[in-house]
Amino acid sequence: MTKDCIALIGFMGTGKTTVGKALVDYLGKDFKFIETDQIIIEMAGKPISRIFSEDGEDIFRTYEIEACKKVSKLKKVIISCGGGVVLNSININNLKKNCFIVLLTATPKEIYKRVVNEGKELRPIIDTEDPMGEIERILKYRENFYYTSADIIVDTSGKPIEKVVSNIISNLTQSEKFNFLLK
Ligand code: S3P
Repeated sequence: MTKDCIALIGFMGTGKTTVGKALVDYLGKDFKFIETDQIIIEMAGKPISRIFSEDGEDIFRTYEIEACKKVSKLKKVIISCGGGVVLNSININNLKKNCFIVLLTATPKEIYKRVVNEGKELRPIIDTEDPMGEIERILKYRENFYYTSADIIVDTSGKPIEKVVSNIISNLTQSEKFNFLLK
């Protein structure tokens, strides 16, 4: 099976959605942007915050496994993955079937700034008394999952979006498996 998709992984606030949409703009109209969270919202018929509060995180992760399975069958998509997809290796195994996996990173301070500005109540896993402490704790716990899942790693801290996109594109150009995406 030819790999013709890009999966963006990384913690919340690392720019997966913005970068994903900018990649679609760059690659052209053959490509579509999708988010695993959006697929989950459609499957569950309710927002992420309600899945967490009413059904719990385990049910959310079960939906997430289904969502990754679904997107791994698509062609020419740029996928913004929920920050926790790396927690279940089955997700990365499925995504790797058709995706180049790009890890976006940012400093905890930058993540805090981006996420808390949008409203922490939208992000159940850091909706605590001490969101900054929680961001640092989760990042530390997940660090190895993120780094071992990635084909390439791009830091987004203090970088304009165009720079992040051009970093990704130059990596694709160097990879024989994926440079056809750019033609
Ligand atoms: C989560 C990240 C969220 C969403 C859910 C759980 C996580 O997605 O999937 O709230 O465990 O890191 P984003 O990374 O797109 O915010």
